Amino acid sequence: MQVVYFVNSGTEANELAMLMARLHSGNLGMIALRNACHGGSSNQIGLTALNKWKYPIPQGVGGAVELAPGYLKHVYDIVRKAGGVFIADEVQTGFGRTGFATGAFRHKGGLPLGVVVTTPEIASVMAQKIQFNTFGGNPVCSAGGLAVLRVIDKEKHQAHCADVGSHLIGCLRALQET
Ligand SMILES: Cc1ncc(COP(=O)(O)O)c(C=O)c1O
Repeated sequence: MQVVYFVNSGTEANELAMLMARLHSGNLGMIALRNACHGGSSNQIGLTALNKWKYPIPQGVGGAVELAPGYLKHVYDIVRKAGGVFIADEVQTGFGRTGFATGAFRHKGGLPLGVVVTTPEIASVMAQKIQFNTFGGNPVCSAGGLAVLRVIDKEKHQAHCADVGSHLIGCLRALQET
């Protein structure tokens, strides 16, 4: 993935990702995990039934559930076989917060900054459309984003998340067995 579009929020990033996926695949249909949270726009709310976020959900504002090993690979295969595009929303899980390196699709931090990362092939569909964003990639937020990345790297946050996360899961599993 070599093409990056800068936007102001997670919602905007998902909107743009959905637009590109639709143009690239030629299909309008979308599938999302039930009650997942992907933003507050009518597209995202319509896609995810966000109104139920207070109940147990697979991933998002109301909590997070670890996906079964191999689950995502299996889903990628099914989506690709059907001619679809897989969109990974990493607002909560990106940048090493799960303790593992990921192919980040987007991220938001304290400053309004979001990104959509994709392949040149998928990005080329935007040549057919007008896409602009007045504040996306502005110097202040971009400098803030870069500073955050440096701190994550310097303070080894990813390794720390892996340590603390696996310790916590180990403790929870032990609790589950008692
Ligand atoms: C997983 C996830 N996706 C999307 C969003 C929407 O991002 P934003 O509030 O920047 O529009 C959120 C909000 O926190 C989120 O948790």
